[in-house]
Amino acid sequence: MPSPDTPAPAPERVEPPGTERPIVRVRGVSKTFGKDVRALDDVSLDVAPGIVYGLLGPNGAGKTTLIRVLATLLRPEGGDVEVAGVDVLADPTGARARIGLAGQFAAVDEYLTGRENVVMVGRLYGLSGREARRRADDVLERIKLTDAATRRVGTYSGGMRRRLDLAASLVGRPQVMFLDEPTTGIDPRSRLDLWELVEDLVETGTTVLLTTQYLEEADRLADRIGVIDDGRIVSEGTADELKDTLGGAVLEVTVAPDDVARSREILGGIAGDEVASAAAGTRLRVPARDGVVTLMAATRGFDAIGLQPLDVALHKPTLDDVFLALTGDRPEPVEGEAAEAATGVGLDATSGPSTGMATTSPTTPASSGDRPAA
Ligand SMILES: Nc1ncnc2c1ncn2[C@@H]1O[C@H](COP(=O)(O)OP(=O)(O)OP(=O)(O)O)[C@@H](O)[C@H]1O
Ligand SMILES: [Mg+2]
Repeated sequence: MPSPDTPAPAPERVEPPGTERPIVRVRGVSKTFGKDVRALDDVSLDVAPGIVYGLLGPNGAGKTTLIRVLATLLRPEGGDVEVAGVDVLADPTGARARIGLAGQFAAVDEYLTGRENVVMVGRLYGLSGREARRRADDVLERIKLTDAATRRVGTYSGGMRRRLDLAASLVGRPQVMFLDEPTTGIDPRSRLDLWELVEDLVETGTTVLLTTQYLEEADRLADRIGVIDDGRIVSEGTADELKDTLGGAVLEVTVAPDDVARSREILGGIAGDEVASAAAGTRLRVPARDGVVTLMAATRGFDAIGLQPLDVALHKPTLDDVFLALTGDRPEPVEGEAAEAATGVGLDATSGPSTGMATTSPTTPASSGDRPAA
């Protein structure tokens, strides 16, 4: 905003960010498997060009299904899907020329070398042999697979395959890149490399839509986040907007298993019915809209019934809290996370500077039961 004494700027012709035509536009998309698995239930979303959009949701939420619809691999029952100006349902071939996809399960040929895999995909995109080889070397270097490029993929580790799959999808220089859980099963170092790669991609003008179960990943990478649960988008916004929905702070109380029920009652009385619990069930969280006042009310409540919590902490809302509040689920149990996220406000002895961010282990084994049909 200009200050009152600066002259008003000339009217701008450039549209403000967020008002350009979305590069991914989904309207009323539904997909049912069999009789009653409603994987997508009237999903609508817009992705502005040049951003990273993170689709966040628990197992079975519908993330892969939506990616498959966007990437022309699956036809929804109804709705409209547009990617890079192309009507995906009417012109899948046209859409394919503009998109790249790295699926949840690496689709690479074991019998070819890494480089041959990438060159092959480049040729499928219609590149000349020479251009395909040039770009293959380029992406293999970016994804740090140059040393292994001449080895057969059969000898690659799981993480290397996923990186190769990503390299292959980059070779066509897509306008829009779909990444389905790009860092699941990838070691922390490679994960950071991949994050940098995604950031580079966006800088060179590619729009990225990625799914993830790692809140830290969404927090770090995504300009906007859509939370999906049970086939529906349940919330949408920037990471900060989502955190703000919980108010200024979250009260987290850890209790003995026998005390969970009574503690839920106390906390429920203070915060309404919004008590979320972590997977283990003994760590309860409620929005602490009044900060320390909420904390003290809880402490008094526990005192009154002679219940002593194992740990009490007040922290800034993390995406993890948002996720819990919205989906009643958490991506995976995380050890020691409360200590990392706690600020110095609470009674937590280990309190330190807040990371403001949930951390999750990078190694969720990929579920094997839902491999998409080729
Ligand atoms: N081909 C299929 N046939 C039957 N059901 C399916 C099929 N694909 C997905 N589903 C079901 O649709 C729902 C959404 O699945 P989807 O794979 O989209 O979830 P997801 O959000 O990607 O989960 P995850 O985090 O585990 O990868 C699940 O209930 C799943 O079992
Ligand atoms: Mg999936």
